[in-house]
Amino acid sequence: MKKSPVLSNSRSLFALWILIFFGSCVHEPFLSSLDSNNEPPPPPTDDCLSDGSVCFESSILPIFLSSCARSGCHDSKSKKDGYVLDSYTNIMKKGISKGNANNSKLYKVLFATGSDRMPPDGPLSQAQKDAIKLWINEGAKNTTDCNCGCDPSLFTYAAIIQPIMATNCVGCHKPGSLGGNIDLSTHKAVQTQAANGKLVGSITHAQGFVAMPQGGKLQDCEITQIKSWVSAGAPNN
Ligand code: HEC
Repeated sequence: MKKSPVLSNSRSLFALWILIFFGSCVHEPFLSSLDSNNEPPPPPTDDCLSDGSVCFESSILPIFLSSCARSGCHDSKSKKDGYVLDSYTNIMKKGISKGNANNSKLYKVLFATGSDRMPPDGPLSQAQKDAIKLWINEGAKNTTDCNCGCDPSLFTYAAIIQPIMATNCVGCHKPGSLGGNIDLSTHKAVQTQAANGKLVGSITHAQGFVAMPQGGKLQDCEITQIKSWVSAGAPNN
């Protein structure tokens, strides 16, 4: 029987549609993978690492340095109860059970009562406790050089300056624990040190000032943010 020309036409039309359909399927993923390469990087998180895990160097070590490794407590000279909490190696020697915060002495003492609670002069903030818990539960890794997405063009007090102070400075500079008689726990107090030049002098390790934070240096990007905020009049924004 002779094929109807109408049928054969609609068949080739169908074949054409199939071609277009599959053609677009093949190209789509290619295009979208190109698109995603052009997307800006995800916004920075407090945790810093691209996989969302906690960065030891920028989020955890500064808490230990400013709240535990202080003179008379857990610095390398005082070694209270045998704990030196000034570096990854020393922190890992005692009191951390990798992957298990609830079984780690260094975590549990944050919640102890009376004089057993650490630090003795005032509890860590909930955010700091949470960060330490997460870091231990993730395996207490020595993560360094993390891309924390610091943007030197941002420098408001609430979003940028206050968190830098809280992580790196307030442990040694708050009422009840006033290193050098300097308070950095409120906007007004930080503004005072901004106005008299000591804040920038100390964090840039300028001559004539005591270098801060004790035992380290802020990231260049953080120093730029603080300098810009001070130049803008250290506003409470
Ligand atoms: C481990 C504790 C500790 C940490 C952390 C710390 N400081 Fe200090 N800071 C001190 C002590 C103690 C002094 C007094 C030092 C002295 O007089 O020799 C001091 C002094 C200062 C001074 C006075 C400097 C001067 O030359 O007069 C400033 C300003 C200061 N700190 C700011 C900061 C800032 C900003 C940070 C965080 C980036 C910080 N500190 C972190 C303990 C600390």
